[in-house]
Amino acid sequence: MPSPATHPAYPAGLRLAGRKVVVLGGGQVAQRRLPALLTAGADVLLVSPSATASVEAMATAGELRWERRPYRAGDLEGAWYAIVATDDADANDAASAEAEERRVWCVRSDDADAASAWTPASGHSAGVTVAVLTTEPAERDPRRTAAVRDSLLRALDEGRVAVPRQAGGESPRVALVGGGPGDPDLITVRGRRLLAEADVVIADRLGPRDLLAELPPHVEVIDAAKIPYGRAMAQEAINEALITHAKEGKTVVRLKGGDPFVFGRGMEEAQALAAAGIPCTVVPGISSSVSVPAAAGIPVTHRGVAHEFTVVSGHVAPDDPRSLVDWPALARLRGTLVILMGVDKLGAIAEALVRHGRDPETPVALIQEGTTAAQRRVDARLETAAETARAHDVRPPAVIVVGAVAALGA
Ligand SMILES: C[S@@+](CC[C@H](N)C(=O)[O-])C[C@H]1O[C@@H](n2cnc3c(N)ncnc32)[C@H](O)[C@@H]1O
Repeated sequence: MPSPATHPAYPAGLRLAGRKVVVLGGGQVAQRRLPALLTAGADVLLVSPSATASVEAMATAGELRWERRPYRAGDLEGAWYAIVATDDADANDAASAEAEERRVWCVRSDDADAASAWTPASGHSAGVTVAVLTTEPAERDPRRTAAVRDSLLRALDEGRVAVPRQAGGESPRVALVGGGPGDPDLITVRGRRLLAEADVVIADRLGPRDLLAELPPHVEVIDAAKIPYGRAMAQEAINEALITHAKEGKTVVRLKGGDPFVFGRGMEEAQALAAAGIPCTVVPGISSSVSVPAAAGIPVTHRGVAHEFTVVSGHVAPDDPRSLVDWPALARLRGTLVILMGVDKLGAIAEALVRHGRDPETPVALIQEGTTAAQRRVDARLETAAETARAHDVRPPAVIVVGAVAALGA
């Protein structure tokens, strides 16, 4: 009889939706395995006298059934798959024997050699699941398989491994991708993958511009900042470019700084595409409003200091009739005020805040070009913030933080 010890495992994708899976033991192994079982739609029965807080939360949320007791013979009845991971070796042996008898594929956390199934190192990217096992049973090494899995996933995320688009594809023609504040590591995995799949990239001045250098030569990169129209026309020209390229059947990524929907005009672009009958997907990004302060050591909230933060655009002065901001109300708030696009109007903004009641001594931090190699931070007081900014030649792009938190991490 051939021995499992000398033959490679046979890879299979188990379709567990609606099928009973028994997990014995509610510790770290269960905590790691349960999310994927639940994503697969398995009907999970957990048998364990105790569970970690996360596992308990899954039971409380009704995602699985939990019987608070030790394993007993018969628990695997009706199961298709079992994970045996208790801290009682005898119970593990008994459950494993029951699984064998009932022909239930069984993973064992304490004795892989005795198990009838192994969990591969797995992950998802670009619409595919990668699952890695060693070929030789004797060379089974979870660290090695996890390392291979990670390399493959990274390659997929970065587009270094080509995944042909699905015929008649679901994949979006246009993606509005939030690129984060500038550091190329701060784009989301999904954003990065879509960028790797693009034929055309329309990029803003802000955002992770270093990533553009990695694009293959056939990708057309359009610099949105250089579209030759006035400020108002530029947005229409960008919308037009998105529509034209998408209609040519190209995959278009609109790479934006921060988050597309935080002062990013993302909705205008989505609406223009919708009006042209072109579907688009929006990939959220890490907004500079929180990440740039964080990069300078400033938390926008802090227990006992600030229980709220407000993000506001300072691109028009408080007394400008176009301003939609209620500055007197903001002046009465005690929490953190994060001002974007406010360098030019900082004098008028600070004056309005003080006039309407904010303490002139309130700490202010200005962070220019946050998360990039050129990042710098200038600290000030509200009353003299504009003077200080001028003295230090602070220029856009900068995030201005007003409030007690601005004194932290200085
Ligand atoms: C048009 S808004 C776009 C905001 C963007 N959608 C976001 O969520 O971060 C541009 C403003 O964001 C701020 N900003 C964006 N990136 C920044 C960075 N790396 N450092 C400092 N400020 C930044 C500046 O206030 C800049 O004037």
